[in-house]
Amino acid sequence: MRSAFKTPDVALSARRPEELDADLLVVPVFESAGATDVAWLDEACGGAVARARASGEFRGRLYDTLITTVTAPAWRARRVLLVGAGRSSEWTADRLRRIAITAGLHARQRFIARLAFVPVLSAGDSAQTDGSQLATAVAAQVVAEGVCIANFDGGAYKTNDDRWGWLEQVVISLPDSLKAQAGVERGRILGEATNQARTFSNEPGNALTPRVFAAHAETIAKGAGLGVDVLDEAQISELKMGLLLGVAQGSQEPPRLVVLRHDPANAVAGVVLAFVGKGITFDTGGISIKPAQDMDRMKDDMSGGAAAICALAAIARLKVPVKCLGIVPMTENMPGGRAMKPGDVLTSAEGKTVEVLNTDAEGRLVLGDALWYARQLGATHLVDLATLTGACVVALGKTTSGLFGTPAAWVEQVQRASDRAGDRSWPMPTFDDYKDLFKSEIADFSNTGGRPAGSITAALFLKEFTGDVPWAHLDIAGTAWAEDVKPYQPKGATGVGVRTLVELALDVETWGKLNLRR
Ligand code: BES
Ligand code: MN
Ligand code: ZN
Repeated sequence: MRSAFKTPDVALSARRPEELDADLLVVPVFESAGATDVAWLDEACGGAVARARASGEFRGRLYDTLITTVTAPAWRARRVLLVGAGRSSEWTADRLRRIAITAGLHARQRFIARLAFVPVLSAGDSAQTDGSQLATAVAAQVVAEGVCIANFDGGAYKTNDDRWGWLEQVVISLPDSLKAQAGVERGRILGEATNQARTFSNEPGNALTPRVFAAHAETIAKGAGLGVDVLDEAQISELKMGLLLGVAQGSQEPPRLVVLRHDPANAVAGVVLAFVGKGITFDTGGISIKPAQDMDRMKDDMSGGAAAICALAAIARLKVPVKCLGIVPMTENMPGGRAMKPGDVLTSAEGKTVEVLNTDAEGRLVLGDALWYARQLGATHLVDLATLTGACVVALGKTTSGLFGTPAAWVEQVQRASDRAGDRSWPMPTFDDYKDLFKSEIADFSNTGGRPAGSITAALFLKEFTGDVPWAHLDIAGTAWAEDVKPYQPKGATGVGVRTLVELALDVETWGKLNLRR
């Protein structure tokens, strides 16, 4: 796998902006505030900020940018990047994260390696002066996350890529408290895990086969101190995982089932949090083959699996006190002489039978066996992530993941974690009425419900394999891959879900004691 990111050094400094040593000083600036809020900066830049505001060149609208020169001779940084912070009343930690990404991308485009970030927002409304330790730790975390996420290169296979420099050093102008330091460390680990997941999703199908994916997962897991088992096709057969084997049988490449374990001594009693991720290394659709247009995108059909693996590695690095499992079924979905056919009936490891009406609805098949296996291994709380349905993209678009599950209290925990992570998700219904849509004449049910409520019938299919364990499902078909360039998001893999899972685990004190009967 081609290495495609670099995690910069990130330090805190309580020094005043003029004393920060960097090639570029980054300052978020709110919209429509009077010129007084950044008077200190305006003065250092010989009035350039006030002039840009007056002319309309830079008004502080969200993610607008302006680079200007420092004229004050005493300042160590010689240039400033202003990034619009939008309205101060709408300010969130996620905006600060995205501003840090925007700034990092701008710096890299100019081959600037050393940044200083001043999360001073306006007079009286800065992370420095509001006195709250938590706000400082969160600010430190999201800025660290942002600059790491900016340090990712989607052109990993270019042999002569001189379009971008790398960020090497970032100083955040915040008091150097223990909590803020913990925030920086958390942010670096979360940013790096996000980039690791993006690297996996970006990897072409010819390079990232199930065996290669499993081998990389093993390397990452061992490096992070996780327990690892890689089950091969013989062991998968022994477990009678007919759904996973059904999908895999059309491919020349054998399937793998990766099981990762985080088992800390100080874990909260009675909780086993399991992440189950879809690991289709390429989805052609199988015999129900997909159209050629955009089929290349289906190299990212393992993004849920990558998120589960990379989140677990981050959880181990952060020594989060909760027992966790990661379960990733890995296979290609191919047509061929041995491929499963429409009308075939498969028997799951749990014993339930499935009529395959569309071989392109393969994600729910491999996840069905994996969710069952998570329960066999003792999962008390389940979260699965999958690039599962085009219907979810129709329903919610490219920026919000579909969130399903039961009971509601568990689903809400996952939604709150996704909000903290900056991975947007929104709840969708799972009424039993929808089950009628994927009835089968011959088997327990079929694997397709047709076009109506397509993301919901897929979720209800998965629910069949969750027993009575609290379960949440994130459909990341729309969010795993960005099609449009945004100031804070280049085209390509997003690493969605990684930070959600880690934030969820970090919050175990909140939900570990809840009664989540379903
Ligand atoms: N991996 C696809 C879902 C997908 C589609 C992800 C577009 C990202 C972008 C999944 O395996 C699939 O093919 N789903 C089918 C299900 C249908 C046959 C019931 C779909 O959404 O069309
Ligand atoms: Mn498919
Ligand atoms: Zn798929």
